[in-house]
Amino acid sequence: MIFDKYGRPITNLRITITHKCNYRCFYCHREGEDCSDALTVEDVVRLVKVGKKLGMDKVKLTGGEPLTRSDLIDMIEAINEIGLSEVAMTTNGSLLKGIAHHLAKAGLSRVNVSLPSLREGVFERITGVQVLGKVMEGLLEAKACGLEPIKLNVVVLRGLNDDELWNIVDFARKHEFIVQLIELEPININDEFYRIHHVSLEEVELWLQQRAVRIEERKLMHNRRQYDLGDVKVEVVRPVNNPEFCMHCTRLRVTADGKLKPCIMRNDNLVDVLRALRIGLDDSELIKIFMKAVELREPYFKGACNAQAHGKAKVC
Ligand code: 5AD
Ligand code: SF4
Repeated sequence: MIFDKYGRPITNLRITITHKCNYRCFYCHREGEDCSDALTVEDVVRLVKVGKKLGMDKVKLTGGEPLTRSDLIDMIEAINEIGLSEVAMTTNGSLLKGIAHHLAKAGLSRVNVSLPSLREGVFERITGVQVLGKVMEGLLEAKACGLEPIKLNVVVLRGLNDDELWNIVDFARKHEFIVQLIELEPININDEFYRIHHVSLEEVELWLQQRAVRIEERKLMHNRRQYDLGDVKVEVVRPVNNPEFCMHCTRLRVTADGKLKPCIMRNDNLVDVLRALRIGLDDSELIKIFMKAVELREPYFKGACNAQAHGKAKVC
């Protein structure tokens, strides 16, 4: 297992496999990246293998929309052969129908599906496309073929979907999905949009605290809490100005053009790994490159006292 100099274990590799997307969400943070696609299936597999040697046992494929890649099934099959504890994917869900069972068969463990609204008009205003029906069909197929737990990613937007959160929770209850309410992050988006649509999720979290029958703290998941309301589970993701979120970050990111990215909020400390892959460097050299990126990890939002660096990054 590898730890950064803040003592954070790095257990998750999050890979942007494409920036292509069939939606045009105005809030899209593009995973904090500003680059074009370059990673092949072979590149991804090699990176996952090296990550696994360092204890990164969970992989998440993200985008853009991963399902716009025609070689996605091959990629998942090849990753699955490496033997990880989890291969997950974030998707907008619109292309899931007809392919979810192939994904499950290839070894995908679970999916997070973006669901910004249950109202067609609002859905279209947010995403720029009218495909809510297709997302619903995709969700049901994903559930039927065991891609569980299915999490619904809901970025909360003032004046757009903030009045339907409980309808989304009801929908999740009915279908046994988990809801992830996500606070809008000011990354790669227009300041004016952020000012108008950002909602702090503090009050929502207080409300959940009062009603939960059980609260689970997920230490390796940014310490975020999962509120079990008895018949449905709701998670709240509050990354903005949240030192606790950063102190429990266990992710190393890979950009779509093959750079290791220590933090979603920064582009000034990327570490190129694609060149090393292309010139055929061996695993020990790639491990050094990973270590360099881990060494550069720093909590972006630092608390007053709990974000002290201790020595160097290390493998234990
Ligand atoms: N703030 C918060 N979440 C965002 N996502 C995309 N852009 C933003 C943003 N600016 C979410 C998507 C997707 C997940 C990968 O990130 O809705 O579910
Ligand atoms: Fe961005 Fe996701 Fe929306 Fe596509 S679906 S535009 S990747 S937020």
